[in-house]
Amino acid sequence: SSLSCSLSLSLPGSSAAAEKSTLTLDPPWRTVFRWERFTLTCSRPYTPGGSTLWHRNGKAWRSTLKNRITIEEAEMNDSGSYKCQAPGSHPSDPIELTVSYDWLILQVPYYAVFEGDPLLLRCCGWQGDTVSNIRFYKDGKDIRLYPENSVLTIKQARTSDSGKYHCSGRIKNTMNIMAAETSHVASISVQELFSSPVLKITGSGDVIEGNPVTLRCFTQLNPQKSDIQLLRVFYKDSMAPIGTGISPDYHIPVAGLEDSGFYHCEVKTMTLSVQKQSSKLKLDVKRIPVSGVSLGVQPQGGRVTEGEQLVLSCSVEVGTGPITFSWHQKGSRQALRTETQHSQRMVYEIPAANETDMGEYYCMASNGNPPVSSPGVKIVVMVPVSPPLLTISVADAWATVGDVVEIWCESSRGSAPILYRFHHEGDALGNRTVSSRGPGSLALKVTSEQDTGTYFCEADNGMAHGSQRSAPFRLSVLVPVSGATITADPTGLEVMAGESMNLSCSVESGTAPLFKWLHNSEDLAAASGLSPPTAVGNMLYFRSVQLGHGGNYQCIASNQLSPQQVFQAHSKILAIAVIGTHR
Ligand SMILES: *[C@@H]1O[C@H](CO)[C@@H](O)[C@H](O)[C@H]1NC(C)=O
Ligand SMILES: *[C@@H]1O[C@H](CO)[C@@H](O)[C@H](O)[C@H]1NC(C)=O
Repeated sequence: SSLSCSLSLSLPGSSAAAEKSTLTLDPPWRTVFRWERFTLTCSRPYTPGGSTLWHRNGKAWRSTLKNRITIEEAEMNDSGSYKCQAPGSHPSDPIELTVSYDWLILQVPYYAVFEGDPLLLRCCGWQGDTVSNIRFYKDGKDIRLYPENSVLTIKQARTSDSGKYHCSGRIKNTMNIMAAETSHVASISVQELFSSPVLKITGSGDVIEGNPVTLRCFTQLNPQKSDIQLLRVFYKDSMAPIGTGISPDYHIPVAGLEDSGFYHCEVKTMTLSVQKQSSKLKLDVKRIPVSGVSLGVQPQGGRVTEGEQLVLSCSVEVGTGPITFSWHQKGSRQALRTETQHSQRMVYEIPAANETDMGEYYCMASNGNPPVSSPGVKIVVMVPVSPPLLTISVADAWATVGDVVEIWCESSRGSAPILYRFHHEGDALGNRTVSSRGPGSLALKVTSEQDTGTYFCEADNGMAHGSQRSAPFRLSVLVPVSGATITADPTGLEVMAGESMNLSCSVESGTAPLFKWLHNSEDLAAASGLSPPTAVGNMLYFRSVQLGHGGNYQCIASNQLSPQQVFQAHSKILAIAVIGTHR
């Protein structure tokens, strides 16, 4: 089988660096037969108007206004190294062209072939002679590819396709005799498009849980192909891709333990003509154990007023990953609360503290290791004093002069120490500080009726809500009677029978005295046979004195606190003589 070697094939050209002239050759082969036509084109950048300079074998060859030169019939001396220089740009890379006088040639591309590009090799006979039994050899070995025609096509070249190629075939010579012919050897070097990728962790040091991590898939693109875009695919533990894109980086914003594993990346061209994998990279995300656990208290100092909010915040200085926090009250076996959170600080709130919340607290934190405990913090719940109750050690709220009255003041609730202040009407009597449960007491020595009046007490434990006042208690003082005096009206020791006479009894002091009259040492009530005088209050009225009314009178004033405590004052004896009228 054969194919005319005069057919032109459309092949990719090489891309050139900027500012450099680009020299292309048509047909695109390193070797042409003698008398064949070839065209050199100098382009990109091409500025019309200037002259294109041409070099052959390192020497100035020609200068043309056009950017192309066609050699209609190549001769031996057209072999050589060609370069061109378009106006205003640098000389091109060279093209090595060989003009052959052989019967059979192997045509290989004049341009650099990159991985993934098609590679075409043509085995051609002189002047389009039919070649049969074509075989291709690489590095001296028959590569056992028997193409339908004279073209060997490698759809996507690999660097392993690099080597020394030649071909052989049978061809009719000038004598019209079939002869076996062998081509010259052509070296082909397939250029690496990009280097094998290497996956690395950017930055230095250990990868710590919670921190960001970036994996970079490094590869070096051939500078001649710098306009090619490469696709990166990232894999973890050889599973489905975890990331695809043109970025060389794969970001893990917050590394977790579960991100540990074996990663690799793959770099490929958009057309997938070339794909290369990195070797595996082990990522080991480290967890830092919890330490430096502390318990913070709000309000500061741990003194909270009953009913107010108490905040216990547990924090760790270091420790990564989700942390399990728990709060404990010393002496209680169960945790008050246990919570896991992706945070180094967590808060436990007691919305309204009460007395039972008083005590020592600590918290514990753990991220998988044995829990670490914080130092203990004392919490004092301050209870405002309740209005105190005032009690007095007397029955019926009565006392008498000389008594010592005990006054107690006690709030049923309130944090100690409590200061109790005692008051009588507007006057302060004194104060007592009580440092534990129990009343404050004051001994009041009753000295006079002045001590009568309203008593109250106040309780104060220094808290913002101020002191609390008891209900008033009214104490009455009974002054014992004394200094009873008996007087008569009319004055004088004699009185006419039939006249009126009034006796009165008065006391020097004494609360609400009652009066009793004695006539000749006998209770007046007991006296009989006479029209009796009338006793009203401290008065004894005689509407009409009779003879029998004469005698000794005495009054007794009395008052009492109780049937057991009776006070009496006796007046002097007043002798009354009644003078008869019948004389
Ligand atoms: C308590 O009583 C003492 C006298 O016994 C007095 O000096 C002091 O000021 C009182 N304190 C208060 C808070 O009333
Ligand atoms: C005794 O008291 C009564 C009533 O107050 C009075 O009417 C009478 O005149 C008085 N008698 C004398 C002797 O003062």
